[in-house]
Amino acid sequence: MIDNTAVLTIDGPGGAGKGTISRLVAERLGWHLLDSGALYRLTALAAIRQGVAQDDEAGLARVAGELDVVFLAAGGEGRILLEGQDVSADIRTEQVGNAASRVAAFPAVRTALSQRQQAFRHAPGLVADGRDMGTVVFPDAPLKIFLTASAEERAQRRYRQLREAGVDANLSSLLKEIQARDARDMQRSVAPLVPADDAVTLDTTSLTIPEVVDRLMALLAREGLTSDA
Ligand code: DC
Repeated sequence: MIDNTAVLTIDGPGGAGKGTISRLVAERLGWHLLDSGALYRLTALAAIRQGVAQDDEAGLARVAGELDVVFLAAGGEGRILLEGQDVSADIRTEQVGNAASRVAAFPAVRTALSQRQQAFRHAPGLVADGRDMGTVVFPDAPLKIFLTASAEERAQRRYRQLREAGVDANLSSLLKEIQARDARDMQRSVAPLVPADDAVTLDTTSLTIPEVVDRLMALLAREGLTSDA
């Protein structure tokens, strides 16, 4: 079935600012927001809690298919409930992020989450944030962005975030983790992290968040998807 509801896909490596940018653009447009990475993180967290091994593809796919999750868009970053319990902070740890990247390499897990992601497509529109939004999940999206930044800049941003939150962090180990996760996300055989052929690549290394949002709004206006330039 053809779905004409507009979708803006924002793919790219971890730490490029996709989460913040996607949320701000969705707010500006009054569109829905899909944080697809959260679904992989939730699958990883639920698997850890249920004692499902990280190499048990069938078990992980079952966990993904049965996820009892609610996204609450209560302003700001919103809250995420897993089986009624607020896990918004639990899914953002490095441990769960790394487990999510491993879990995401299994085709059966990706299939189990695919329909759930497509179900976010509702009027007036959807901003979809992830790795394969433009290539696999919403290949017909009228505007696809590949948001990137150098690994060094992404490590610096993560370092500042952690320090501001009062968490001890080491810049060189953060850089190594980012490079390892990039490699895993780009080299996996299913839905690897690559720009869609028709994606616009935006390097945010030396751009501020408002500058990136403005550029996206201008691109949306150019495509006739909004009047707000
Ligand atoms: O964007 P994030 O850091 O929350 O994503 C966590 C992991 O999930 C990431 O390492 C790769 C995976 N992921 C994916 O494979 N496909 C997506 N559409 C989104 C995330």
